[in-house]
Amino acid sequence: MSAVLKPPAPAALSPAQAAARDKIWAMPLADLHPADPQHFVDNVELHIFDRLRAQAPVHFGHSPVPEVGSYWSVTRYQDIMHVDTHPELFSSDWSKGGITLFNAPDGEKLPMFIAMDPPKHDDQRKAVSTIVAPANLNNWQAEIRERTGRLLDSLPRNEPFDWVDKVSIELTTCMLATLFDFPFEDRRLLTWWSDVATMNKATNPEALEPAERMAELGKMLGYFTKLWNERVNAPPKTDLVSMLAHGAATRNMPPLEYMGNLVLLIVGGNDTTRNSMTGGLLALNDNPAEFAKLRANPALVDSLVPEIIRWQTPLAYMRRTAVQDTELGGQRIAKGDKVAMWYLSGNRDETAIDRPDQFIIDRARPRQHLSFGFGIHRCVGNRLAELQLKILWEEILERFPVIEVLGEPTRVRSSFVRGYSKLMVNIPG
Ligand code: HEM
Repeated sequence: MSAVLKPPAPAALSPAQAAARDKIWAMPLADLHPADPQHFVDNVELHIFDRLRAQAPVHFGHSPVPEVGSYWSVTRYQDIMHVDTHPELFSSDWSKGGITLFNAPDGEKLPMFIAMDPPKHDDQRKAVSTIVAPANLNNWQAEIRERTGRLLDSLPRNEPFDWVDKVSIELTTCMLATLFDFPFEDRRLLTWWSDVATMNKATNPEALEPAERMAELGKMLGYFTKLWNERVNAPPKTDLVSMLAHGAATRNMPPLEYMGNLVLLIVGGNDTTRNSMTGGLLALNDNPAEFAKLRANPALVDSLVPEIIRWQTPLAYMRRTAVQDTELGGQRIAKGDKVAMWYLSGNRDETAIDRPDQFIIDRARPRQHLSFGFGIHRCVGNRLAELQLKILWEEILERFPVIEVLGEPTRVRSSFVRGYSKLMVNIPG
């Protein structure tokens, strides 16, 4: 007899989440402001995207923050792919506002190649992209595994601790120090500069004042200028500073552009992987049947990792600016308009992804997601991020039968970086 097993129904919403969803679905569409960071703090952002995909897939919203202003939200998978693969229509250029909805004032705008269009983007990207060539990834495997194992062995037992700080931040910061060949004892400076760079006062009251923020980034530039000067006349090596100092398209960069590219490489490799490390633990904790499946078959780590990255979507959107009048999803987008490609929403689009609201660790095509973007800006570090997460989960499975999550995480006040600042856990032992 053949039996057809139905998939489990999506987890029931808690009363608070159900109330949040009902409120969002009752609001006038024009009042929806998906980039309000409060939605992300409150963990209700997915309800907004469910509604937009269903009722207004290319939506014009408004922020009360003048530096954000009005912007289009593109929420369906195929429309996001359209924007991401047409850089001639939708620019990333920093002089037009770059890749976040927040328009930095003059003096705080930073040139960096993620916020450039071809041909300059392509040339600068080439200068560093070999850092994650397969040969380098192979060389790092043993080091990452040894470091990860050592850190996991040092974690407290039977004593609550913050997973974000002790595991996610520490491992990603160590990796960054390796990529830059940065003095290891100073590595937490990289974490600090990453946090400074991603926060701004207009949308986060906890951020530094603009002048203090630029002063901190100036200190970062000072530190890295010393490293540049040591390496520029030495034989080329495979660290990011040496690659920038020797690269044909980067060796004559003005200091502000060096600063911008440092911010890109520090934030790119830091917040994203960090929040996937925390998001993965949360996802497995919220889906115990999947966790049991993984423990029974650790080889599933290979498909677990991309599913964690889809589920978390650590960068919720990337912004573009329309360079000419164009049409998308029946809406007329005018030259100069801001357009947010909501990867987070595309990753939950049921027309592109099977059962997108379920966390399934053995999907047939797990890498079919938008978390790394698409097209000419597709994440340089995607294979490295996957490698770090794979090793982390392999080493966790070797050691800990149980990691107890002690309550809700604290979520980062940002609609760009989707992540966590704290998650208390306990490892019995
Ligand atoms: C670009 C996500 C890890 C370096 C991007 C983009 C996204 C992204 C969404 C922009 C794509 C677009 O505009 O189309 C992620 C996620 C990661 C991750 C989710 C981890 C789970 C890393 C790591 C590095 C890195 C470890 C460092 C080596 C970069 C760089 C770019 C980039 C340099 C700019 C590429 C360009 O403009 O051509 N990443 N990233 N990322 N990422 Fe990542």
